[in-house]
Order: sequence, then C-alpha cells, then structure tokens
Amino acid sequence: MSEIQITITRGGKAGKQYTFNDRTVCVIGRALDCNILLPDDDQHSTISRYHCLLDINPPEICIRDFGSLNGTFVNQNKIGQRDASEDIFRAQGLIYPEYNLHNGDKIQLGDTELEITVVSEGTEKDLVEHTSRLEHKINMAEASQSDPLDKVNKMLQQEDNTDQNELEQELIKGYVIRKELGRGNMGAVYLASHQETRENVALKVMLPRVEASSRAHKQFMRETRNTRLLKHKNIVQVYDIGCHEGTWFFTTDYCEGGSVARLLKSKGGRLPLSLALKIYLQILDGLAYAHQVKVPAIVLADGTTTSGVGLVHRDIKPGNILLTRQEGIWRAKIADFGLAKAFDTAGLSGRTATGVSAGTPYYMPRQQIINFKLARPEVDIWAATATFYKILTGCHPRNYNKRTDPWLTTLKMPPVSIMERDVSVPQNLGEFIDRVLNDKPKLAYQSVRDLKTDLLKVL
Ligand SMILES: Nc1ncnc2c1ncn2[C@@H]1O[C@H](COP(=O)(O)OP(=O)(O)OP(=O)(O)O)[C@@H](O)[C@H]1O
Ligand SMILES: [Mg+2]
Repeated sequence: MSEIQITITRGGKAGKQYTFNDRTVCVIGRALDCNILLPDDDQHSTISRYHCLLDINPPEICIRDFGSLNGTFVNQNKIGQRDASEDIFRAQGLIYPEYNLHNGDKIQLGDTELEITVVSEGTEKDLVEHTSRLEHKINMAEASQSDPLDKVNKMLQQEDNTDQNELEQELIKGYVIRKELGRGNMGAVYLASHQETRENVALKVMLPRVEASSRAHKQFMRETRNTRLLKHKNIVQVYDIGCHEGTWFFTTDYCEGGSVARLLKSKGGRLPLSLALKIYLQILDGLAYAHQVKVPAIVLADGTTTSGVGLVHRDIKPGNILLTRQEGIWRAKIADFGLAKAFDTAGLSGRTATGVSAGTPYYMPRQQIINFKLARPEVDIWAATATFYKILTGCHPRNYNKRTDPWLTTLKMPPVSIMERDVSVPQNLGEFIDRVLNDKPKLAYQSVRDLKTDLLKVL
C-alpha cells in the first residue's frame, strides 16, 4: 500500500510530519480549520488563511494554489500556469491549475518549506498495480469520448465467468437498453426493460477514474450492498449490482419525471414555494429514514466490518433528486445513495475529486472540504437545505465566480441570506434556512428530526 508523507522542513513548525494513506484532500494555511495549520504570527504573515490545497490519492498527489497573495512555489518555481506536460485530464478545461507532485518535491509558502515523500512498498505486485493504474489512466483519457453504451452492451451479452464469482459480483442480465436518460461525471444512465417481465429500470453505468485493485472492488461492493437495504418511498431503490471489466452497473427504480435539476431548467431556474417545500420535506423524510436504518455490515477504516446504524448520502443536489408518479401523485426520491462515499472510500474516484472536471462543492458545507471523508448526517442536512435554497431562488447559497477557485469560495465565503436573493420568501422560513446554512463555527443541525421540528414551527 502506498503512502504520502509531508514533512515541514523549514519554518515555525519544522519537524512536524503528516501521513496520508488514503484518498483525501488537505488544506494548508493559517485558518484554524486547515488540515496543515501554520502559525498565525509575524513569521508566517505572508501565508494566506487558506493558501493551497493538496489533492491526495496515494501514490499520487497534486497541489493547487488558492490564488494566494504571495503564491505557492514548488522546487523554487511559482505555480500558476498549467504545464502542458501535466496530467491529461487537466487539459479538459480546468480553470484552476493543478500540479502533480513527486517524491522529493519541495513546496515553499513564505519561509515555510514542506517536503513530499511518496512511499511505495515497492513489492512486485505494487509496481505492477501502479503501472497498470497509469496505463489505465491513459487508456481512460483516450476512451473518455467513447460511448459507455458499448460497455453496457458487452456486459449484457457476456457469459458467466469465474473471476466475477471470485469477486462476489453479481451479473445484471436479461435487460434490454431502450434509451439514454442522462450523463453525469462518473458515467451514464439508461432506460432498460427486463426481457421477460417488461419492467422498466434505470441502468446506471459508473466508469471509475482509476483502475481498481480487487481490494477496492470488494470494498466498493460491500458498501454499495448496504445501499440495497434502503427501502423507502423517497429513496430510489437499488436492485442489482454488477461489474464488468472495471465498469460498475446498477439497476434502480426508473423515475420517469427526471431530476429536479432538469425540472428547474425547464421552469426557468426556480419553482414556487409550495412545490419546493414539498420536495424539501420529502428529501428530509428519505434522509431521516436512511440516517437511522440498521446496517448489518459497516466497513471500518482498518477494513474490518461491524454492524451499526445509519447511511449518509454525501452528494445531495438537484441532479440526485428524481421525480416519479406514484398512486397519482408526484414524489421526490433521492438517487445515488452512498455511491459517492463508496466510490471515494474505494479510491475509484481518482485523484481529481476536487478538480473542475469532477464536480463542484456548491452543495457542500465548509466542514466537508476540511474533513474530506466526513460522512455524518449534518452534511446531508446542509446539502438538502442548499438544494431547497437553489429550488427557491435559482442560486447556490454562496456566490461563486469564474475567477475564484470554487473550493476556496466554499471554505471562505458565508452563504448569502436567502432574503437577499428573493424578498418573497417568508421571513420566518428565510431566517430558518439561513440558520441551517450558516456553517460557522459549526453546523446547526445534527439530526433531521430536530431540523423538522423547528421547520414545522416556522411554516
Ligand atoms: N433512476 C433514474 N430514472 C430516471 N432518470 C435518471 C435516473 N437516474 C439518473 N437519471 C437521469 O440521468 C442523469 C444523469 O445521472 P447521473 O447520476 O449519472 O449524474 P448526476 O447525478 O446528474 O451527476 P453526478 O455524476 O455528478 O452525480 C440525471 O440527471 C437524471 O436526469
Ligand atoms: Mg446522480
């Protein structure tokens, strides 16, 4: 297993060492919540409060300056312009340049110097795995324009094979693809129907950004199995899970109304209060259930499992709220439960999780950036309320602009009061939303039940 070590070699905290052995991000600066906190004194006055961000997926690591006043230097070179030889993914429109770091590289921020050590165990197996990851990355970059449908068809036609059984993976067979429903960062979603029962399902195809080891596959499988436990009217039900040549497939409820993101687009960006409120309350019902569900197998950091309570989504946003008509009424359902977390935990999202090509932190509280793996109910509560805010106003809670790295904006800027966006939002409700979204110093609500109790008082 690979590891990244960061040692402060010069400056007030010289000698301090940090070790990272799984997928994470790390913010360096003088703000109290930085992961690598530098002293807030005269000697460090040229360092910004949030100075730069390290995006880590051992053995890979890259750095991004947050547009700091005095810049970030790597081996004495100021970073700020993309090096054409850098990672090919960067070429796909990344506005905020990232630099790959290598073993022995030195980062300078003011008088502080940090040295990067990339530790690979160096066994033959590790080397083979690393080489194949790199090769796979190049192949993926080349194939990124190719159609995921080819993979689906191949998978649907394949015969049983023993490798699949070894990885405890089930096959999704007997479905016919009807049409594409949409695409996201990780792949595509198709409408499929069962050959015999004719029942419609959505078939989701997830393309990992790095080649997965069998350990990562098992971990992903274990986590996504848990999501199949979720059975609630406001959660999209997952049925089958399968994997073919590193591509994951899921069959889920088909939601003919599409996503709330699409509905917003078709209605000019926002919805009336009564409808927005219905959607918000339904999301909260789904979350309240999931946060309390009994889970027989939770994977711990050391790889062992235990039983416990509650699953957290970690990626609530309008694109993950789907609409379906049941018993004559429209219903909102939360999609992709736990997928973002499972993908990250298994290291399948690659190192680019903070890159522009891989999503944005519009629906994240500040705490989720600082503590990348934060998977607690309060993260979903914040994101659900940010989704409600977006549905009501057409805006994200924070003001993002093209010149500022959105990750820095999420860290630094407070949400804008909803009443400033839209004066027609009732004052009691507006104050409530502002209170939920205020993430400094800490998040206001830890449980959906408490939030709902207070919400009902202001309606
Ligand atoms: N179960 C479903 N029923 C109907 N349409 C769906 C279903 N799942 C997804 N879709 C459609 O496919 C689109 C793409 O979904 P996908 O989950 O791949 O991406 P996303 O959620 O929009 O973005 P991201 O990849 O960042 O999560 C959705 O926006 C939605 O319109
Ligand atoms: Mg989705």
